Amino acid sequence: MALPPQFLEELRSRLSVSEVVMKRMRLTRAGREFKAPCPFHNEKTPSFYVNDQKNFFHCFGCGAHGDQIGFVMRYDNLSFMEAVESLAGEVGMVVPKATPQERERFERQKSLYDLVERAAKFYEQQLFTAAGRAALDYLRRRGLDEEGIARFRLGFAPQDGAGLHGALTEAGYSEADMVEVGLFKRPEAGRSIRNFFWNRVMFPVTDRRGRVVAFGGRLLEGDGPKYINSAENPLFHKGNILYGMSRARQAAADGQALIVTEGYMDVIACVRAGYEGAVAPLGTAMTETQIQELWKLAPEGQRRPILCFDGDNAGRRAAQRAVERILPVLTPDVSARIAFMPEKEDPDSLIRRNGKEAFQGVLDRALSLEDFIWEYARQGNEPRTAEGRLTIENTINQLTETIADKSVQYSYRAALRDKLRAVIRGGFADGGARTFAGAAGPRRPRPGDIPVSPLWNRNHRSGAILTDPQRRERYLLVTVLHHPELFQSVGERLAEADFADPELEMLRQALVECLTAESALDADALRRHLSSRGFQETLDSLLSADAPRFAQPGASIEAALSGWQEVWLSSEERLLQQELRDAQRRFAETFSEADLERLRMLQQEVLTLRGHDHDPALGEN
Ligand code: UTP
Ligand code: MN
Repeated sequence: MALPPQFLEELRSRLSVSEVVMKRMRLTRAGREFKAPCPFHNEKTPSFYVNDQKNFFHCFGCGAHGDQIGFVMRYDNLSFMEAVESLAGEVGMVVPKATPQERERFERQKSLYDLVERAAKFYEQQLFTAAGRAALDYLRRRGLDEEGIARFRLGFAPQDGAGLHGALTEAGYSEADMVEVGLFKRPEAGRSIRNFFWNRVMFPVTDRRGRVVAFGGRLLEGDGPKYINSAENPLFHKGNILYGMSRARQAAADGQALIVTEGYMDVIACVRAGYEGAVAPLGTAMTETQIQELWKLAPEGQRRPILCFDGDNAGRRAAQRAVERILPVLTPDVSARIAFMPEKEDPDSLIRRNGKEAFQGVLDRALSLEDFIWEYARQGNEPRTAEGRLTIENTINQLTETIADKSVQYSYRAALRDKLRAVIRGGFADGGARTFAGAAGPRRPRPGDIPVSPLWNRNHRSGAILTDPQRRERYLLVTVLHHPELFQSVGERLAEADFADPELEMLRQALVECLTAESALDADALRRHLSSRGFQETLDSLLSADAPRFAQPGASIEAALSGWQEVWLSSEERLLQQELRDAQRRFAETFSEADLERLRMLQQEVLTLRGHDHDPALGEN
């Protein structure tokens, strides 16, 4: 809704920029201006100036600039309309509504807010009556004192709805209004209305601006669902609201982390332990709107909320679903972190039992989205077998495929593939899968423990091959020399390979040519062809060298094929080449310094890889 320019003019003339700023922070006079350390970035010497004549603030450090409204938007973390309303409120101006219909809707909403607010007060008072005794005791048993109860405005909805009905009627509200906001329901037309919440502890739910818009009610005892929420109503759309969001917004503006927990009691426990950025969805998994709202709660540059999940399987699945929902909407300035609670604990129980430090430990161990994807892809897969690597790679590709923002997608892929190559290289710098391992966890893999599959004999463990391109190239050729019929399945790949060893590269080309021209050649015929083309010596040395089982003449065709594939896939260089192609494409689009840097890094890696004979950690044999 557009505001008339005269209104904004008038608003600006009633409050100078310095007045607005001084209501929120200290300013020192400096001649005709005012100055202070900038509230929008970290600094020691003041570079934030306010000039009332020119009607603006300006920071020479970070470039923040604007007028009264702009300042309130940034400082109080409000939208434009919210800032206007807040400033208008300060000087007693009424924000005009464009049309009578809009004004009417506005007035009506305002009165519905007031109705819900009155209900909240009613419930609060009930907690301290005889009827509310059991509820009060319950809250005390859960560790809440009177201050806590008042802070979260907890209340009690008695069995009988007459009290609330009376209070609201007295305040001038119709039954239609009471039904509209979900506090009462009308079972059938013509019948009298009934209270929706009864015999429940009440948690008022507020919107971004701290206005009560709905309630959650927890059953004290007896049958029925443990928690219920107000139905959707003009003030409350469950999928847009997070419990605790107005406090969290303030906390985030002060630099605190946003933490997403599961329930009302978790938020309360977190806030009481000093984590004021805690919020919770209302009994459902987070919707996309809630994720967007969550990001909006924090100032730019700090949009990396921590999502807490249970440590059990259900929690891991929930985390996975949340990540699947977040990935498509990622942008370069937003992200999330994933934390897992110890088994059988939620933040409320953990803080109560083991204190704030235990919870802080959980937060400290939160995984970045990249690490989460990595651990998720790795779980149950052994990166040092061809199959495991393929699965890991596919999972990484599938998940990152859903990232709509191409630059974010690129950087996630780059980071994840770097990790994969690092593991294949045998570094195990990541220490194995932490999160998915459960409490005890599997033994950490060590560089020495290379899996011995039936394809390989002791002297040719698959791990060693990964770091030795020349040996890998030998095996790829020898296997096909013994079993030319493999060419049907592997010919295409072999044809596009590019071997590092010049002699083997020439042989590769000749072999591909022979088998492409004449696919039915048997091993002997193939060898005759190649030796007539001058490869006798190469063949002799190649065929007399020691080789793994699958690359020996007696191996079955199945063993030969899977051995060949394993060697092919194992190549770190293959991954590296793929990365290099992506990085080249990327650089051609952006021409950015960072992308050039990465390109150089990858090129260097190729050189290093080619210059290496073997990895001393793995040994030649
Ligand atoms: P649970 O029923 O798992 O909570 O619902 P809990 O931790 O066991 O409950 P307490 O600690 O004993 O009180 C998880 C959370 O989901 C929200 C509530 O906040 C609840 O704490 N919820 C659940 C709703 O808001 N509405 C619902 O209909 C259901
Ligand atoms: Mn709980």
